[in-house]
Amino acid sequence: MPKRIRLGVNIDHVATVRQARGVSYPSVVHAGHIAELSGADLITVHLREDRRHIQDTDVRALRESLQVPLNLEMALTDEMLDIVLSVKPDWACLVPEKREELTTEGGLDVAGQLQRVQDVCQALQQAGIKVSLFVDPDREQIQASGASGADAVELHTGTYANQVKKAQQEELQRLSLASQQAGTLGLQVHAGHGLNRHNVLPVAGLEAVEELNIGHALIADAVFLGLAESVAGMRRLLDQAR
Ligand code: PXP
Repeated sequence: MPKRIRLGVNIDHVATVRQARGVSYPSVVHAGHIAELSGADLITVHLREDRRHIQDTDVRALRESLQVPLNLEMALTDEMLDIVLSVKPDWACLVPEKREELTTEGGLDVAGQLQRVQDVCQALQQAGIKVSLFVDPDREQIQASGASGADAVELHTGTYANQVKKAQQEELQRLSLASQQAGTLGLQVHAGHGLNRHNVLPVAGLEAVEELNIGHALIADAVFLGLAESVAGMRRLLDQAR
C-alpha cells in the first residue's frame, strides 16, 4: 500500500461565499495558500460553465501563486478546453456538467463518447497537462477510461457517501473493485465527492487509491474550526488510514 495518500483540497465553496454577495472576499488565493500550508498536496477548483463560484480570474491567480499542483475540473466543452489549454494547470479532471444540478451528480460517460474523450485527453496531454476522468465505479466506464489514454480516473464516491450502512458497504466494495481494475489498466486512482471526516477512512484504506479530492465538508468545517485546522485535521485522519 502506498504510504501516504494525497489530499486534494477543493476550494470552490470559498468562492461560493464570495459570490453570494458579489464582493471581493473571502479570497480564493488566500484559501489556497492556507490549505497548502496546512497539508493539502494539491488544490482543486471547478470552473463551471455558469461561473456560479470559481471565476476565470481565480483560476489564473491560483496558477500563478500556488506552490502545490493545481487540478482544474472541466466539462468537455470547447470553451473550457481553450481556457484550460491557456491556463495550463498540472491536472485537468474531466467531469460531466448540467446547468441545473446543485453539484456534479454522476460520473462522466466515457464509454458513450470515447472518441471525444480521447481527443480531449490528447490535446491536454500535448500541452503537458495530466488528465483524470471523473467516473462512477463501473466496469464499462473504467474499461473505457483505460482505452482513452487518460492518466488517471477519479472514482465518484457520491453514492457511497449518501448511503446508509449496508448499502454503503456494498458501494465500498464497488469502489474497491473499480480501483483494482483501474490500477491493472495502468491508471492512477483518485477518488472524491461527498467525503467528510466521518466517512473518509474506509475509502482512504483502499489500497489502489492514491489521492482524495475533498471540498464541501472541509469548507463547512472551516466555518467553525478555521480552514487551517479543517485541512490539518483531515490530513491527520488520512495518515491514520495507512
Ligand atoms: N471531485 C470532483 C470531480 C468534483 O466535481 C467534486 C465537487 O466539485 C469533488 C471531488 C469534491 O466533492 P465535495 O465538495 O463533495 O467534497
